[in-house]
Amino acid sequence: MALNDLKAPIAICTWGFVAANAKAGEELSKGIKALDAAIAGVSVEEDNIKNTTVGKGGAPDREGNVTLDACVMDSNGDCGSVVCVENITNVAALAKRVMTETPHVMLAGSGAEEFAYSQGFESDNLLTDSSKKAWEEWLKSPEYKPLINIENHDTIGMLCIDKDGDIAGACTTSGLSYKMKGRVGDSPIIGSGLFIDNDIGGAVGTGMGEEIMKTVGSFLIVELMRNGMSPQQACEEAVQRITRKNDHFNDFQIAYIAINKSGDVGSYCIHKGFTYMKYQNGKNENIHSDHYVKS
Ligand code: GLY
Repeated sequence: MALNDLKAPIAICTWGFVAANAKAGEELSKGIKALDAAIAGVSVEEDNIKNTTVGKGGAPDREGNVTLDACVMDSNGDCGSVVCVENITNVAALAKRVMTETPHVMLAGSGAEEFAYSQGFESDNLLTDSSKKAWEEWLKSPEYKPLINIENHDTIGMLCIDKDGDIAGACTTSGLSYKMKGRVGDSPIIGSGLFIDNDIGGAVGTGMGEEIMKTVGSFLIVELMRNGMSPQQACEEAVQRITRKNDHFNDFQIAYIAINKSGDVGSYCIHKGFTYMKYQNGKNENIHSDHYVKS
């Protein structure tokens, strides 16, 4: 496909993160490469203290520690990831530094935090007054029950195609609210929360990370596209891999978005309520996803 036919650049992201997707779209329109545009986009939500599932202001674990997970993947197949990081807000940018400044793909916990300081990142208290208050309220009857589409307004996963037609993505989250100490979900796991193959396309997931990890959802979607499915068909099949094997799918939400090399976009989720953003030709739209449970 000729680049003119593609009408790049394009940015898509999970949920109705209007400002984050607009930021990525504007960066792409200026000629910024896909990975840096995606990182700039998701950082809007990492910095947004009103967002209780990403970055600063994210809900803590059961012990009151805010721990963040993120990964990035570039068009040349390089990737970086950080898991269970405390005191650093912009963890997608940190994941890129793991990719570019270390011989590794993933750094965890205090190692990732120390690496961040060595790279000039500043320490920040991620537990805001309002997140602390909500956690203290939760402690009064600490039952763990993930809520469909409310608690799981979680991960921001973003996929960008730049003016050169190259695809990259970023995925960043504080994970499930009041998770067990040390719990890591799908978002920083390359292939689960995010996967890119610049010859084929990319995918990101959001929702109950444990279920995405069991099916390596984002890698699955890219491979299904490689085998001829459209992004929409591939997202539907990846969701149904989960619903076919897990009788409890009424209890959790999973949603995927995907884009192929031609710029076609798809999205599917288990339960009604998931939306995603699409920026193309200067237009930034919030689109309702089709869903598996129809009633
Ligand atoms: N999808 C985010 C998580 O489960 O941590």
